[in-house]
Parts: sequence; structure tokens; C-alpha cells
Amino acid sequence: MTAPDYIVIKAKEDGVSVIGLTRGNDTKFHHTEKLDCGEVMIAQFTEHTSAMKIRGSAEITTAHGVVSSEERA
Ligand code: TRP
Repeated sequence: MTAPDYIVIKAKEDGVSVIGLTRGNDTKFHHTEKLDCGEVMIAQFTEHTSAMKIRGSAEITTAHGVVSSEERA
């Protein structure tokens, strides 16, 4: 299997959460990482991580392009 792509998350405000969700029958949060404004996290989907949820304002770069998440109104 080729190495999974990395995704890049750049926080645009303090307190952005990057939440990893488990792979398999149960989809649960397994890790939450907090980023402050300007901080960058580079992450992969793995055997344990099937999805990620980003909460707060951030720029997310993936092989599919760049998307922005926004803070709650
Ligand atoms: N232990 C986790 C794993 O190997 C670490 C991890 C990888 C992670 N990608 C992530 C945690 C994305 C949160 C979000 O799957």
C-alpha cells in the first residue's frame, strides 16, 4: 500500500480542534489536538484514523484542494 497523503491544517484563530475519528465499526473520537492561530498540523489518515473533524477557523489543504473551515456564527 502506498503511504497515505498528508493533510495540512493551518489554524486561523486560537483554539482550533483537530479531532481524529476511529476506523472500523465504531466511529469515535480518539484524539483531539488544539491549535492556536498560525499553528500548523500535518496529519495522515492511518490504520487507526479514518476521518478528521476540524472545529474552528482553519485552512485545510489536501490532495483534493484547499478548503476553509469557519468559526461558529
Ligand atoms: N495515533 C493516531 C493514528 O495513528 C495519530 C493520528 C494520525 C491522528 N492522524 C491523526 C490523530 C489525525 C488525530 C488526527 O491514527
